Amino acid sequence: MKDITLSYLDRKPVLAPGELEEKVKAAAPVLAAVVAGEEQYQDSLGWFSVDEAAGPERVDFLLEQAARVRADGDAFVVIGIGGSNQASRAAVKALRPKDGPAILWAGNTISACEMARTLEELDQYKSIYIDCIAKNFETLEPGIAFRMLRHYLEKRYGEADAARRIFATGTPGSTLHQLCKDNGYTFLEFPERIGGRYSIGSDVGLFPMAVAGIDIKTMTQGMRDMRDRLFSEPAEENIALKYACLRNLMYDHGFRLEMMAFFEPRLDYFAKWWIQAFAESEGKEGKGLYPVCASDSEDLHSIGQFIQQGSPILFETFIEVRQRDFSVVMPEETKKDYFQYLDGKDFWDINDTARKATIEAHSERGIPCLNLSVPALDAHTLGEMFYFFLFACYLSCKLTGVNPFDQPGVEAYKGYMFKNLGKPGAN
Ligand code: PA5
Repeated sequence: MKDITLSYLDRKPVLAPGELEEKVKAAAPVLAAVVAGEEQYQDSLGWFSVDEAAGPERVDFLLEQAARVRADGDAFVVIGIGGSNQASRAAVKALRPKDGPAILWAGNTISACEMARTLEELDQYKSIYIDCIAKNFETLEPGIAFRMLRHYLEKRYGEADAARRIFATGTPGSTLHQLCKDNGYTFLEFPERIGGRYSIGSDVGLFPMAVAGIDIKTMTQGMRDMRDRLFSEPAEENIALKYACLRNLMYDHGFRLEMMAFFEPRLDYFAKWWIQAFAESEGKEGKGLYPVCASDSEDLHSIGQFIQQGSPILFETFIEVRQRDFSVVMPEETKKDYFQYLDGKDFWDINDTARKATIEAHSERGIPCLNLSVPALDAHTLGEMFYFFLFACYLSCKLTGVNPFDQPGVEAYKGYMFKNLGKPGAN
């Protein structure tokens, strides 16, 4: 079970001997309070137990609903933004299940070009289903995309057939719920006690994954296993507390950016999910690390220069994937192409060599390097990773001294936008 490990490489020491251990010791009461269940955050902890929103019965129900879509759908559009689509998109892009409908993403932009392209793309599919996910059905992006796609379905299939193709995931009693009741759409639940970016273990994240063909029983078991581990591991061994403390120490030592670096582009959207979780949770009150990512080796040929020799503002958290789940061997070549030194070598090993070389070069420069080593990229491990980062994010916010579950800052631009768009009541 303890297959996920976290190590820290600090070749030009930033931390004094024993500093991390001292920090962890001092933070032990924070872990204890979080595990006990903090009264002040009860409204936001519906994801904590996993079983409250993603217990076996709910997972079976979601699999049944997904089976209906998978039986005849060849395209499924997930409409949502921020916490409403990031987790399922991260999982679908990482695991890329082979069977099942094409999964499209909408309601995460207001670009006319993107909307036009989505509608055009849908013309090539025969049987389309959609799911509009919005906790607060006032969010502009999913709201307007939902209307466009409802109209599209109604035009293609007629109102009655369109209605059976429409799912919506929202808060019971919300305007979205009412829209479903009035029009016969299938309503799924966005749990009251779970905020967007913590919603992976609920209908929000799991239903699109199930439609895509991801094994959500295994995924939720991964979450549960990580939960059990983090709830029982003592502070001095607790991997999430260690990660939260390291981040906090990096901040205290003047670093302002955390860069998640990985050598598997299938993690690109996982990194986007991680960026949202930490940026929206921790970046407030003038504090917080700015989360960014590097999808290597590609990004080594662009931002790699900055990392190696630019302003010393960042530390890195590498994701190491241990399983050799793909093998592509370089064929021998008689034509002199000057890559003969790689004849017979596996891409997997070449990539791993690049990963190790990067850690060596960056740490030599004095960049603190964390390494989260994961056994594989499969449903179980991803479930563990999702839970690990959410739990660590909660702890990290506590150490930073900010509320992990609110996001007052995102309202600022909305005020101007709604006012200028003439929304009733906006000023
Ligand atoms: O984490 C959050 O709460 C946000 O990122 C929301 O998920 C995002 O703003 C979308 O909100 P809603 O589901 O209400 O449309």
